[in-house]
Amino acid sequence: MLLLSSTALTLLVAAASISLVGATIDPLSWDEAYTKAEIIVSKMTVEQKVSITTGVGWQNGLCVGNTYPTTNPDFPALCLQDAPLGIRLANNVTSGVAGINAAASFDKKAIRARANYMGKEFRGKGAHVQLGPAMNFMRSPLSGRGWESGGEDPYLIGVLASETIKGIQEQGVIATAKHFLLNEQEMNRHLSSSDVDARTLHEIYLWPFARSVEAGVGSIMCSYNLANGTYACENDYLLNTVLKGELGFKGFIHSDWGATYSTAESANGGLDMTMPGDITMGSGGSFFGKNLTDAVKANQVSEDRTTDMAMRIVATWFKMKQDEGFPEVSLNSFDLENSPYVNVQEDHNILAREIASASNVLLKNVKNTLPIDPTKTKKISIIGSDAAVDPSTLNCRNHACTGGTLAQGWGSGTAYFSYLIDPLTGLTEAFGDNVQVQTSLNDWDLKEAAETAKDSDYAFVFSNSNSGEEADVAGNMGDRNNISLWHNGDNLIKAVADANKNTIVVIHSVGPVLMPWIDHPNIKAVLWPGLPGQESGYSLADIVTGKVNPSGRLPYTIAKKVEDYGAGASISKDLVIPYQEKLLVGYKWFDHAKIEPLFPFGYGLSYTKFNYSQLKVKVNASYGDNKKVVNDATVEASLSIRNGGPVEGAEIVQAYLSFPSSAGSPPKQLRGFEKILLQKGEKGVVEFKFGKTELSIYDAETESWVIPSGQFKLHIGASSRDIRKVAKFTL
Ligand code: NOJ
Repeated sequence: MLLLSSTALTLLVAAASISLVGATIDPLSWDEAYTKAEIIVSKMTVEQKVSITTGVGWQNGLCVGNTYPTTNPDFPALCLQDAPLGIRLANNVTSGVAGINAAASFDKKAIRARANYMGKEFRGKGAHVQLGPAMNFMRSPLSGRGWESGGEDPYLIGVLASETIKGIQEQGVIATAKHFLLNEQEMNRHLSSSDVDARTLHEIYLWPFARSVEAGVGSIMCSYNLANGTYACENDYLLNTVLKGELGFKGFIHSDWGATYSTAESANGGLDMTMPGDITMGSGGSFFGKNLTDAVKANQVSEDRTTDMAMRIVATWFKMKQDEGFPEVSLNSFDLENSPYVNVQEDHNILAREIASASNVLLKNVKNTLPIDPTKTKKISIIGSDAAVDPSTLNCRNHACTGGTLAQGWGSGTAYFSYLIDPLTGLTEAFGDNVQVQTSLNDWDLKEAAETAKDSDYAFVFSNSNSGEEADVAGNMGDRNNISLWHNGDNLIKAVADANKNTIVVIHSVGPVLMPWIDHPNIKAVLWPGLPGQESGYSLADIVTGKVNPSGRLPYTIAKKVEDYGAGASISKDLVIPYQEKLLVGYKWFDHAKIEPLFPFGYGLSYTKFNYSQLKVKVNASYGDNKKVVNDATVEASLSIRNGGPVEGAEIVQAYLSFPSSAGSPPKQLRGFEKILLQKGEKGVVEFKFGKTELSIYDAETESWVIPSGQFKLHIGASSRDIRKVAKFTL
């Protein structure tokens, strides 16, 4: 067995104590920000108020989205820029892990640190608004943009949202929570209506946005689709009643690019800013601008409404202290070659590498095949086109192409790679000069693959599966056509496994794939780095050689066959999409239907072992008549975790709750997780606190959140299907 060297140990500890980058700002409270905004907005004419709500039109400015400035009173043009994983359409930026990987780390600190360096980079380029985080759901594993967000569980996406927003805004950059709401597929995204009942809406799809508002998010992007028959960006119920009413959102709502379809309906429906400004992208004119001013004059929209719109925008700007010396815009999104040289990367590669390894999920590891000691290795083979960068596809426009190693999906959620360390480079460097590395990068030449694999100590075989936004890549129009590996992956893996008894499979994928080869006796290990970004190869090598002990967990269920996903088994082509599965999204469906997944939600192995013991639960609640809880009950739980294995490592302890049967809730739902780093033999305590948010269900009749009375069950485990301790409590 390989023991970690002392340098290796230092690196691993560093990974677990990821810290925030550089100076951070402390955003103003909304009250303070509104007081300041009032001074400016009270001096604005209707035209001025309207102009700051209106984008200048597609490709008419330096950023992906730009607003008009005002003078006397002065308010600057705002720059809104993609993407959730880094700065899009710019050079000299860090292009790190995708949102789905941030979620797979199940590591709040790492998520915050990632957001922090991203915020710093956006600020460095003068972008006022980062168009992220994305928080749509992997309602189906096929959904094209699922990888931009955090998977299939609202609690996990909620944590991703909250930590990301705080991290970005600590750098004085406005975060955008998107896409609001029910925009779970690419197919017919401008045309289809996602129809959902009020309980599902609140408990699943709204959840991450509620956490975003609590985190102080500055802006929210409404989506292209209709929700229950009305366009999201003019949906009075969603924007006014729910977002600004129930959730008390004080920032501004702007449209997705071309998701405004009207003037008065949108303004009255709650939209505060139209993006990129023109009626349809590139067409000129605007639903806002002069049309909105005219609508005010015609009494179709009140002047108060335009005041509210302007107040929301100006207050958000003050909240992030952008009035205190915010850098000039140095982007030139549509003329990259003529953009000024501003390098914002600093040493963010270190964090990008740590987060990439922290999000790598070890799916299979027969007889501790991993980690590998390079000093005891003579020859390795590296097989598959996914192992190496293909310079011709590395930075194709919006990454909407395929070829070479996969490190992010395609579409507006991408950022160009200043460089991409591919697995071939990462592994070759890590194994060093004394280990012979032979390669076969052609996925279709199975004979060559087998020959190459045959007599090496370990054969690493790589494959991938990609998806993205809108554009057609290899016949996939954003959403995936299927969940099989691309580029002959299954045959390649089988050919290599037939030839080498120490085969290690590495998959770069946007989401679940089928694994018909999983039980092949020669496949000794399977690693799932997902979408690791620019530090792909280094972060992989850190895991392979044991410098970092894997602790990533699956943020989605990997099924044995696609039909097992139920409602998610296909992408609907219909223009009305009823979310009939209701609350049973992801693992909740698998639990309910008693379907055995191939790898469950929350799953991931480690090089060490953890023992769970001494689960204790304490209930703080008082009861009125009918034994109903009358305060905001809190339930506290604690347990001991011991690292009983051979090396230091971090465990992701997951807490799932079953609600009283009268609640009609899914069998169990994630309501907490903690990452704990323990030395070999060390014992630590993990604590959870469940409050009103975690203990309630949404009661559609009374339109309120209520804690159901009866017996709850707390399941503590290492995955949704590896429950180690259970305790009951009654409320
Ligand atoms: C459309 C995408 O849906 C959105 O996520 C993105 O921010 C805008 N385009 C701007 O590129």
